[in-house]
Amino acid sequence: MSQKVAVLGTGKIGEALLSGMIRAGWAPDDLLVTARRSERAEELRTRYGVTPATNTEAAKTADTLILTVKPQDMGTLLDELAPHVPADRLVISGAAGIPTSFFEERLATGTPVVRVMTNTPALVDEAMSVISAGSHATEQHLAHAEEIFGGVGKTLRVPESQQDACTALSGSGPAYFFYLVEAMTDAGILLGLPRDKAHDLIVQSAIGAAVMLRDSGEHPVKLRENVTSPAGTTINAIRELENHGVRAALIAALEAARDRSRELASGKKD
Ligand SMILES: NC(=O)c1ccc[n+]([C@@H]2O[C@H](COP(=O)([O-])OP(=O)(O)OC[C@H]3O[C@@H](n4cnc5c(N)ncnc54)[C@H](OP(=O)(O)O)[C@@H]3O)[C@@H](O)[C@H]2O)c1
Repeated sequence: MSQKVAVLGTGKIGEALLSGMIRAGWAPDDLLVTARRSERAEELRTRYGVTPATNTEAAKTADTLILTVKPQDMGTLLDELAPHVPADRLVISGAAGIPTSFFEERLATGTPVVRVMTNTPALVDEAMSVISAGSHATEQHLAHAEEIFGGVGKTLRVPESQQDACTALSGSGPAYFFYLVEAMTDAGILLGLPRDKAHDLIVQSAIGAAVMLRDSGEHPVKLRENVTSPAGTTINAIRELENHGVRAALIAALEAARDRSRELASGKKD
């Protein structure tokens, strides 16, 4: 399908998506970008050979509009776009926490909207992008969103009612792993290792564990049992994790993230 796609508000996530699409074989001539600052637009033209446009030009000419501004800038962007977006154009929102109804209320009646929650590993083509249809989006629209976000990692379709839970799991998910690496590196320092060596040991262990989780087909319990020998070192560590309620803390933490995502989606900012 030769289609013009515009990325509006091409910042970190927008650029990750744009570069993923080009690597996946999209022709730069079919891609438009918009930015708030002209030097940013020129940077994108030089880096990717794509055409910078104004938001209004993009709204008039692109078949698919991907909106990747910050959630707080979305209302202003939609006010600018709404008079120019024909109702047969697909609008994909990459903004965290904004429901499809927000877009449907501001755009022409019947405009198909798809909501996508990706995460920062999009920058290294290992994103987890969760995709939901608005009330006028069809199978074809969802497939198109999957094709675009598939360029920067995995995609999963969920009903929009599950988006807040997914935000807690995968949207914020990378931060929990970074936090864990930080804490385990501190533990390495306590045990007498230099910080850089502790960091390398933990990061490579994290990568190894992630690849095994993805590729072995084994349940995480089985993978953990494989390194938990009777009266060994690992079981002593696990006992301390259980004593400190780490499992319960993670459940509560993700529940708190889900609740906050719900609050933000309903317009509560503080
Ligand atoms: N980063 C993440 O972890 C992450 C993860 C998942 C989803 N998201 C979602 O992705 C979206 C973008 O996040 P980000 O981290 O990529 O933000 P970002 O780097 O600030 O990118 C947003 C870009 O939009 C530009 N912009 C703002 N208003 C505009 C307008 N009216 N017209 C044209 N350009 C405009 C900004 O310009 P300036 O440079 O001039 O400000 C900026 O370059 C957010 O909605 C966020 O919820 C982010």
